[in-house]
Amino acid sequence: MPAYAVIGAQWGDEGKGKIIDFLAENAAIIARYSGGNNAGHTVINDAGTFKLHLVPSGICWPHTMNVIGNGVVVDPDILLKEINENNLDPSRLAVSDRAHLIMPYHITLDNLEEERRGDAKLGTTGRGVGPAYVDKVSRQGLRVGELLDPEDLALRLPDIIAFKNEIITKIYGGKPIELEEVFEKTKLWATELAPYIQPVENQIAEALENDGKVIVEGAQGALLDLDHGTYPFVTSSNPTVGGTLTGLGMGPRSYGGVGGVFKAYCTRVGAGPFPTEIHGAEGDAIREQAGEFGVTTGRARRIGWFDAVAGRYSARVNGFDAMIITKLDILDGWDEIKVCVAYEIDGVRTEQFPVDAAMLDRAKPIYEIHPGWTESTRSITEESQLNDGARAYIRRLEELVGVKTKILSTGPRREETLVLEDFLA
Ligand code: IMP
Repeated sequence: MPAYAVIGAQWGDEGKGKIIDFLAENAAIIARYSGGNNAGHTVINDAGTFKLHLVPSGICWPHTMNVIGNGVVVDPDILLKEINENNLDPSRLAVSDRAHLIMPYHITLDNLEEERRGDAKLGTTGRGVGPAYVDKVSRQGLRVGELLDPEDLALRLPDIIAFKNEIITKIYGGKPIELEEVFEKTKLWATELAPYIQPVENQIAEALENDGKVIVEGAQGALLDLDHGTYPFVTSSNPTVGGTLTGLGMGPRSYGGVGGVFKAYCTRVGAGPFPTEIHGAEGDAIREQAGEFGVTTGRARRIGWFDAVAGRYSARVNGFDAMIITKLDILDGWDEIKVCVAYEIDGVRTEQFPVDAAMLDRAKPIYEIHPGWTESTRSITEESQLNDGARAYIRRLEELVGVKTKILSTGPRREETLVLEDFLA
């Protein structure tokens, strides 16, 4: 049985958690491949409301295994909190021995660097994600599997902490990290996490060999991708489809489908260009109505119209063969709905998403105006219940992005979902 990827197609917060929870009923494994607890996934079903940062969104199905792959950076304090809050045991959750650890000094450095940048800050989530990936790339990182060898850690940590403290105190003027505190933490993490630490690529390969469906869970979104996003206003990993292969250790032929999750409009958190941003009272009203505040940081999300230029680009760099559209019901009752079909940059019309963030910042959106609809799409689950206005809007987005819509989300709860075509077929 193949794997299916569910990838954020915009700037994150597209509602991937809800979609994963919905699809997980038919999955053997749900696997996270990138990012860390900078992500925030909300799942609402009969069992309650779950706000997850690290643990995959398949945990509400008792038969589904949840896997945190090597491409993820793991803050064990957060992982243990989520394990305890959700009564997870190793039969339901595994974390790769090759995933890198977010250490306390990474969190300190993330926040000190943002402070140093002042007005030019990126608006990171402050969870230590960037500095943890820096250490991974510079081959100075610690991996989850290394927790299982405390004697070796005891030998290595003094040097690591001394070096980080030089940077923290001498470059940033910050408060040093206490070696003893960090070492004690690693011992606790080792004891509590040991049963969950596994070479998870084997579990994924075996599930695929045994006809199990593997759903690959995205975090953040394509436009925050370190390579393909609006650099430097990006996260430090690859949320795009390429990241799924390196972040889980699986091959491209495993895939039966790659779905892009798009909000019916756009949002962005943190700094960076956002051509379709709606400023002022109109944006504020949508934010309040849609509850667009970050699950991780509580920050107000910036609101914008659907950007089909960015959407088409995102579909290309990910090879989407399905569009999954969320929050459609938020558009109910609007007089008119704008969709950005092209940009004007320095007086020239273009339908290409520019590589350069400064150029994207100068992009003026060229809009197409769609009539709104008065009927409610909230909670609808049948295609026949979809009103003509909403149907036309969806069809137009498909046409502009160049990908077929297979799932529509019509509310935050699991059952508020309209399947137009089976994504897992
Ligand atoms: P970092 O990932 O914490 O380093 O933050 C880098 C950028 O990505 C900032 O603009 C964050 O707001 C943004 N970001 C990181 N994770 C998410 C997410 O899950 N949803 C939306 N934006 C995110």
